[in-house]
Amino acid sequence: MHIAVVGSGYVGLVAATCLSEMGNDVICVDNDKKKIEDLNNGIIPIYEPGLKPMIERNTVEERLVFTTDIARAVRESAIIFIAVGTPPDEDGSADLKHVLSVASDIATHMDGSRIVVNKSTVPVGTADLVRKQIQDRTKHPVHIVSNPEFLKEGTAIDDFMKPDRVVIGTDSEEVADTMKELYSPFVRTNNPVLVMSNRSAEMTKYVANSLLATRISFMNEIANMCDAVGADVHDIRIGIGSDRRIGPSFLFPGAGFGGSCFPKDIRALQKTALENDVELRVLKAVTDVNEDQKKILVRKVMEHFGQDLDGLNIGVWGISFKPNTDDIREAPALTVIKGLLSKGASISVYDPQAMENARRILGDGVRYATSVYDALTGADALVLVTEWTEFREPDFPRISGIMRNPVVFDGRNVFNPVKLRKIGFTYYGIGRNV
Ligand SMILES: NC(=O)c1ccc[n+]([C@@H]2O[C@H](COP(=O)([O-])OP(=O)(O)OC[C@H]3O[C@@H](n4cnc5c(N)ncnc54)[C@H](O)[C@@H]3O)[C@@H](O)[C@H]2O)c1
Repeated sequence: MHIAVVGSGYVGLVAATCLSEMGNDVICVDNDKKKIEDLNNGIIPIYEPGLKPMIERNTVEERLVFTTDIARAVRESAIIFIAVGTPPDEDGSADLKHVLSVASDIATHMDGSRIVVNKSTVPVGTADLVRKQIQDRTKHPVHIVSNPEFLKEGTAIDDFMKPDRVVIGTDSEEVADTMKELYSPFVRTNNPVLVMSNRSAEMTKYVANSLLATRISFMNEIANMCDAVGADVHDIRIGIGSDRRIGPSFLFPGAGFGGSCFPKDIRALQKTALENDVELRVLKAVTDVNEDQKKILVRKVMEHFGQDLDGLNIGVWGISFKPNTDDIREAPALTVIKGLLSKGASISVYDPQAMENARRILGDGVRYATSVYDALTGADALVLVTEWTEFREPDFPRISGIMRNPVVFDGRNVFNPVKLRKIGFTYYGIGRNV
């Protein structure tokens, strides 16, 4: 099939690449000239495991092209995906200006019937707005499909290639069949392609993210209670996760959730609810708990060292909002680092992929270490915020030799507290009491 994907960010670039990998001809569009120039020169603007070789393979085969020319993309494609950002507006609602601007561009350049697929995360009712935006500007027929994306940064390729399910919102059986055909190579193990109304599809995405975030905030509260009563959240997590009604995913307590999706999607769902006179009280608590949780590591550091952290060197491991991505949007590490700096600490940071992005936000306020060990030379404490695999089994005897004070604040419960204490470390986790 001939496909255009408008927006070449974390979602658009992965979607375009995976669609081309299945043999489709894909034109990937962005209005960021530098991004397209880089892509055409083989420079991949984001870190996502497995993405680079797949882009290379498909560009060589000429199934995947990058351009700023949306007119060409619209003319040459039967199906046009919109995968641009929907950042939060000041009032928390999703800002649809990029989505609607792309819709206008599509209308301007359509020379016949088109299927327009909204892959961006958008509030209930957006399909109607996009349809109107296009129909007000062209006489050609258009079908709007709501096809939310569930990929996770860090495993995006795998998630797109083998989705748990594909959600298709449309009111046309014929369009549903076309979309099913497009996705059929991705669901060969019979994972479902679910066809529903546009509104239900739009809402499914927000509800999925909200429920996942709810599990995290719930477990964070329980972990904090474990600290108060001396129970071990690790055992509790396994104790409840093995119940098939509950399942093991998203039960890991930590230093709060971040990223470009959960916080903004919760706010947007709440805003839509309020506009419809509905109050989502659980979600308010989810956000409140999360805002507190992002400060818990700073609180634990101050409980250990006192209120004034002046003169202390702290090594922070992990800046990206989760492992295997360079994305630092709403990353808890930024709250932790800013909190520690405000109390007078000197910070050395290390992240395997997010150092460049971190520099743009943190500037000269911190030292950028060259390795996990470099971040800890002369340090009074290690604060782990993101659980990259390379942080899991470091050489602790070596670390103990280079730190001034062997104190560990494990914001993701990745270390073994008993083992660490045995070799002389003071250990603090989140709800770990063993
Ligand atoms: N990042 C994720 O993990 C993820 C997962 C699922 C869904 N989503 C949703 O997908 C959407 C995109 O997210 P993202 O993380 O890929 O965003 P992003 O910011 O990484 O990428 C958006 C891209 O769109 C481009 N763009 C903006 N306006 C444009 C226009 N008028 N014409 C052409 N290009 C334009 C930008 O230059 C940018 O490259 C959002 O709605 C997000 O909520 C994101």
